[in-house]
Amino acid sequence: MRIVLGVGGGIAAYKVASLLRLFTEAGHDVTVIPTEAATRFVGVATWEALSGHPVSNSVFDAVHTVNHVRLGHEAELIVVAPATADLLARAATGQADDLLLNTLLMAGDCPVLMAPAMHTEMWQHPATEANVETLRSRGVTVLEPASGRLTGADSGPGRLPEPEAIFTAAMALAGAAASAASAAMPAVKADMDTAPAAGPAAAQPAVPPLAGLTVTISAGGTREPLDPVRFLGNRSSGKQGVALAAAASAAGARVRLLAAHMEVPAPAGVELVQVETALELREAALHAAADSDVVIMAAAVADFRPADVAGTKIKKRDDVADPVINLVRNPDILRELVEVRDAASRNQLIVGFAAETGDAGGDVLDYARDKLRRKACDLLVVNQVGRDLVFGEDTNSVVILSRDGSEPQEASGSKSDVAAAVIDRISAELSRAVPPA
Ligand SMILES: Cc1cc2nc3c(=O)[nH]c(=O)nc-3n(C[C@H](O)[C@H](O)[C@H](O)COP(=O)(O)O)c2cc1C
Repeated sequence: MRIVLGVGGGIAAYKVASLLRLFTEAGHDVTVIPTEAATRFVGVATWEALSGHPVSNSVFDAVHTVNHVRLGHEAELIVVAPATADLLARAATGQADDLLLNTLLMAGDCPVLMAPAMHTEMWQHPATEANVETLRSRGVTVLEPASGRLTGADSGPGRLPEPEAIFTAAMALAGAAASAASAAMPAVKADMDTAPAAGPAAAQPAVPPLAGLTVTISAGGTREPLDPVRFLGNRSSGKQGVALAAAASAAGARVRLLAAHMEVPAPAGVELVQVETALELREAALHAAADSDVVIMAAAVADFRPADVAGTKIKKRDDVADPVINLVRNPDILRELVEVRDAASRNQLIVGFAAETGDAGGDVLDYARDKLRRKACDLLVVNQVGRDLVFGEDTNSVVILSRDGSEPQEASGSKSDVAAAVIDRISAELSRAVPPA
């Protein structure tokens, strides 16, 4: 695949050398276009040696090849990393003052992925937020930056996602664009017999299905404290929620991951909100849902919590009777999210997860249908759980039930496969949804 790798003038430019290696080692032909500021961080020699191509940042170099037109037309994928605040602003306003910006304007239906990196203040500035919004609304996939240590002593959202994460998102975007293009093929071919040749206006940008949308996903298992050292927990590893976050991110969404206890790291590029208990998750979920287009509640939330939490470690004593743990019910977060959404007439898709076990009273699907009726969410992803089933495993097998009563949909395979199926189903539901009047 012919890739244009734009490099912005940020401190993280050095990490993009590793990204370039990932692309070339995977067999892709990469032309690097560093901005002028980028070359103050990493020199042209590095990009030329690693890419095997001459490197320029001016439209006035190699004028006989009209570089920006050629690169824009030939590129099958454009990746910009680090996308600085300045570069995002220039791209959002359609400036064409260097080779990279000209190439972006010439790129037509080529998928474009931008990986921002900057200080948190710059990332959260309304001007940057508006520029990101504009780019996303035009079909550009703008990844969320990772959270963590920034250039100085400060930390927060603004780090460049790791090269491997950008590579994965870029490949997913290129794959999605290629399948969208091939799905459109037969119609185009059929039309060609009768319709006149399509002009440039007919070219449709390959818009990732969740581009411009905010998706909140909860993952992992809550822990309900008993005393400062003990808690009631569950076996959830967080793998399915993390796979969903990665899939939603690859589908172009801005992803917010509400992470209870997880055994796996959050994918880079998502906004991470750490929680411990069901009550903390409730608060984070209600807050996050206020500006989310999709909410997926995949965390294993404790139904009950200890009624009393001891301030000091509960001691084992011979002169005192063994303690009895009294439990109280936790709030029903999924149900509450649906109620808040409906009360606000918000256009939002809410997806629940049900981990069920069958018993003499009914099988897993019976209990799941009952849960869907009670919760009134739009989709319910159901899996059968048990000691060796689902929790902590790398594979999963689910049935997706819909509130509209449509045929249950099965999905199985790796947790990434299941996540992709759930995100595809959500995309399909959203594309069917009637916009509010
Ligand atoms: C040491 C240093 C580090 C910088 N890091 C960043 C950064 O990470 N993100 C950013 O948006 N700007 C950063 N800047 C500011 C940009 O270099 C500046 O806005 C520049 O005009 C961006 O150029 P570009 O549009 O070619 O990327 C940094 C500047 C300096 C001097």
